[in-house]
Amino acid sequence: MSEDNRQWLLARRPSGLVTSDDFRWNVGAVPDIGDGEVLVRNLYLSCDPTQRSWMAGRTYMPAVAIGEVMRSFAAGVVQVSRHPDFREGQIVYGLFGWQDYCVARPDDLFKMQVVPPGVSIEAALGVFGLTGLTAYFGLLHVAALQPGETVVVSGAAGATGSVAGQIAKIKDCRVVGIAGGAEKCDYLTRIGFDAAIDYKSENVMTRLRETCPKGVNVFFDNVGGRLLDAVLLHLAMHARVVLCGSISGYNDAAPQGPRNYMQLLVRRSRMEGFVMTDYNEHSPEAIHVLSGWVRDGRIQHRSDVVTGLENAPSALARLFSGENRGKQLVCVAPPATGAGGADMRVDP
Ligand SMILES: NC(=O)c1ccc[n+]([C@@H]2O[C@H](COP(=O)([O-])OP(=O)(O)OC[C@H]3O[C@@H](n4cnc5c(N)ncnc54)[C@H](OP(=O)(O)O)[C@@H]3O)[C@@H](O)[C@H]2O)c1
Repeated sequence: MSEDNRQWLLARRPSGLVTSDDFRWNVGAVPDIGDGEVLVRNLYLSCDPTQRSWMAGRTYMPAVAIGEVMRSFAAGVVQVSRHPDFREGQIVYGLFGWQDYCVARPDDLFKMQVVPPGVSIEAALGVFGLTGLTAYFGLLHVAALQPGETVVVSGAAGATGSVAGQIAKIKDCRVVGIAGGAEKCDYLTRIGFDAAIDYKSENVMTRLRETCPKGVNVFFDNVGGRLLDAVLLHLAMHARVVLCGSISGYNDAAPQGPRNYMQLLVRRSRMEGFVMTDYNEHSPEAIHVLSGWVRDGRIQHRSDVVTGLENAPSALARLFSGENRGKQLVCVAPPATGAGGADMRVDP
């Protein structure tokens, strides 16, 4: 265990793809805590595309200030607690940042939560965390998915997209995934997608016509840009476009909007954006349902772990190059034996 507190601070607003030059490495003392606070020792960092937006400017949260510790979801172990609801040794997750030690204030907006017994840290940050819950709420609450519908998912082989597609299969839909490369497309059909489109080597418009002959009822969009424009041209009547993310534009200073948005009028359709935390009150129920599907083997999930806090910037960049295979994490310190566990059961 590190005796210092190593940190990555934001050094500048990024231009294009994130690089380690956008951050400054800092080594300081392990902080003291006050009443109502908890000292968390980070074990795993969660890499999320939204972090690129937090670096660039205000989104649904204030921008990370220059000189501030890079904001990040993470899981860690409680080292010292001066809060009545938390005790030493508990595995918790929250917005702990790119650092070894975080002074967590459990009552902040993104509440620190205890990882339920029997759940692995990787699953807590993935299928039962931000990405799995986003897939669940986006399809079942925002799109109000109906059995028999045709669903297209972009970014389909990623942490959010792969869970979204599998939920749609569980709900008896026809599911087509769009991903980059033959290997990712093979993965999609292996985990149950009806068809996969390789946007890097295939004609997306032609393949959408072939794979969605009745049109697209629900588009779960993680990518935006030209893939969104292509799917807009294939909407069925009264379709729902779920604006989950737009990763193709996150590195652009002036991202382009959809050109074919008039198809929403033509097809009497709607497009709705959401942030996972809008549905926080439904998280216990969602985790309970997801855990049943994971236990029954109906949802497969995988994570991609890079080792070392020093590698956090390059791990974040993997999301934009498409190198990640599943939920991208950084292991800052290995958990003690017995911490976390398998990911088959959650009793919220
Ligand atoms: N609304 C919310 O509350 C919420 C919460 C979580 C995540 N999200 C959004 O969900 C999306 C996926 O996030 P995630 O954490 O699950 O990441 P992920 O899908 O596991 O990883 C990102 C993937 O995006 C694809 N990608 C990157 N640049 C691309 C480009 N220019 N064109 C097409 N695809 C590109 C890559 O896959 P390929 O190899 O297939 O290109 C990459 O593997 C993001 O848009 C994120 O912002 C939204």
